[in-house]
Amino acid sequence: MITIALSKGRIYKETLPLLEAANIIPVEDPEKSRKLILDTNQEDVNLVIIRATDVPTYVQFGAADIGVAGKDVLLEHGAEGLYEPVDLKIAKCKLMTAGLADADLETLGQNGRLRVATKFTNVAKRFFESRGEQVEVIKLYGSMELGPIVGLADLIVDVVDTGNTLKANGLKPIDHIADVSSRLVVNKAAMKMKHEKIRGIIEKIKAAVEKNA
Ligand code: ATP
Ligand code: PRP
Repeated sequence: MITIALSKGRIYKETLPLLEAANIIPVEDPEKSRKLILDTNQEDVNLVIIRATDVPTYVQFGAADIGVAGKDVLLEHGAEGLYEPVDLKIAKCKLMTAGLADADLETLGQNGRLRVATKFTNVAKRFFESRGEQVEVIKLYGSMELGPIVGLADLIVDVVDTGNTLKANGLKPIDHIADVSSRLVVNKAAMKMKHEKIRGIIEKIKAAVEKNA
């Protein structure tokens, strides 16, 4: 049996055509079903539908053999115990810092430690450490854009695509941390034990990504 971990929404929608290229077709639509394990047209392949941030954990521990996760999530998780064989080139965005549109970048942080609100606490710590800046990182689980508005934080670290969410909340992008796209991830032990089947899936998905390029 091969188990593939996916999250609902953007990743599921954009991964579906790639799975189809590998002749993996779910028999149910997760957006319409309450089921967490979905069968596919292949008897020995199923899907588990989980939170985007949980995908690396499922694959790391072998609860899923394969998964699709954003590079943002992989950077935050550390991606230990995972292979990352294919850049699927979907769900593209950037990890960035952002602050109030009228913030004076010169004086920001001069009155003590900067406060940074984010769900990407490891990414944020590493980024500011690499610049030799000591910051206080505040863990949030969403709606990071609110942080600077209500005075919870000076900056946020979040994913940005069009920039519309920042703009709508009176914020501006500041520093580019990393380019993000979704990656196929594979459990290292599964890659050895189920090599033939997994290699076949990887190659077909890779070919579909290249065809789209
Ligand atoms: P969770 O449910 O665990 O909080 P999430 O809400 O961030 O996760 P999605 O919004 O479905 O999950 O995002 C999944 C992935 O898509 C992210 O990890 C990121 O790589 C990418 N992504 C997020 N926002 C955008 C965006 N606006 N445009 C393009 N890609 C994005
Ligand atoms: C994501 C992310 C940002 C926004 C950035 O939210 O959390 O808020 O996209 O995209 P933009 O730069 O094009 O505005 P999403 O729309 O996925 O909502 P969710 O994370 O709350 O599900």
